Amino acid sequence: MTAAGYTVLGPEIVKQLHDPRRDFAYDVLVGLSERPKRLSSKYFYDDAGSAYFRRIMALPEYYPTACEEAILTRHADAIVAPALGAPLNLVDLGAGDGKKTMIVLDALRRAGADFVYVPIDISEGAMRELVAKVRASMPDVRVEGLVAEYTDGVHHLARAAGARANLVLFLGSNIGNFGRVAANAFLRRLWSALRPRDHVLVGFDLKKDIEVLLAAYNDRAGVTAAFNLNLLHRINRELGGDFDVSRFRHFGTYNVFSGAMESYLVSLEPQLVSIAALELSFAFDAWEPLHTEYSYKYLRSDIARLAAGTGFAIELELEDERGWFLDSLWRVRPTIEAPEPER
Ligand code: AVJ
Repeated sequence: MTAAGYTVLGPEIVKQLHDPRRDFAYDVLVGLSERPKRLSSKYFYDDAGSAYFRRIMALPEYYPTACEEAILTRHADAIVAPALGAPLNLVDLGAGDGKKTMIVLDALRRAGADFVYVPIDISEGAMRELVAKVRASMPDVRVEGLVAEYTDGVHHLARAAGARANLVLFLGSNIGNFGRVAANAFLRRLWSALRPRDHVLVGFDLKKDIEVLLAAYNDRAGVTAAFNLNLLHRINRELGGDFDVSRFRHFGTYNVFSGAMESYLVSLEPQLVSIAALELSFAFDAWEPLHTEYSYKYLRSDIARLAAGTGFAIELELEDERGWFLDSLWRVRPTIEAPEPER
């Protein structure tokens, strides 16, 4: 750890902002003390969780990845066109395995753009693999990975803002993990880290047939269930918990009123779980839920309002053939029009 508060994990390859272990312990303490119990979905992504998520992306029921891949493949040239002409940072928020980003990287290379690839992801393992993959397959591309969560990544962006313009990718409906208020706040923060010539490409999962949604988050092979339950394994591994994972079940449901897929881990019986790192035990009643994830679904009108209210102008809206997913390309406006929404 350096005085600046970040660790350099390789020679200018991967930087890590502060100590993730302590954040996890603190958030487990707070989340398991609340009613209903809850834990942020950002903690899904340890190495095991990132591997599960890669399997989710390949599931037949999990349509968002295929939809967005089709959109990017078809429109990559149009997406990068407005950003061409000046040296560029291609910032990738929640890059994961970077598979979809490769499509955009290819378009930038075809256009002869001068750019640096800046993937930002909370998972150190995923980041190391991604950086290695880009180095091997595109040795001409300059990569500067950052292990950080979105908000810290955006602060880093603002401070590091140099002569380069930014094209920020926020793909995969990662924004769906934020509630409506948090999404607004995050995009305003992103806006303040950027300048009027910069662009943002946001991937939104659209509202659709509820059966399609339910199937995507309750796959038949049980990968999503394992992904969710891995959170308990992670507490066992990193914080000395003694969760008996077989006494919990995954439950994924759609809340029509809020427009979110919600994931829970439900305790199947009364039980006491102790967590050594916290020197505490937590009681679960039979059928008591632990909330683990929101995945908000959007209407096209929600997206227009969100962009306008957070300082962006929509330049391009791209959908897949079924109209299930939408990638929206935004330009940074000089001012934010709408007042901060009420909480
Ligand atoms: C990575 C947040 C986009 O919300 O669809 C997949 C994570 N959770 N299956 C999503 C997830 C359950 C995914 N995001």
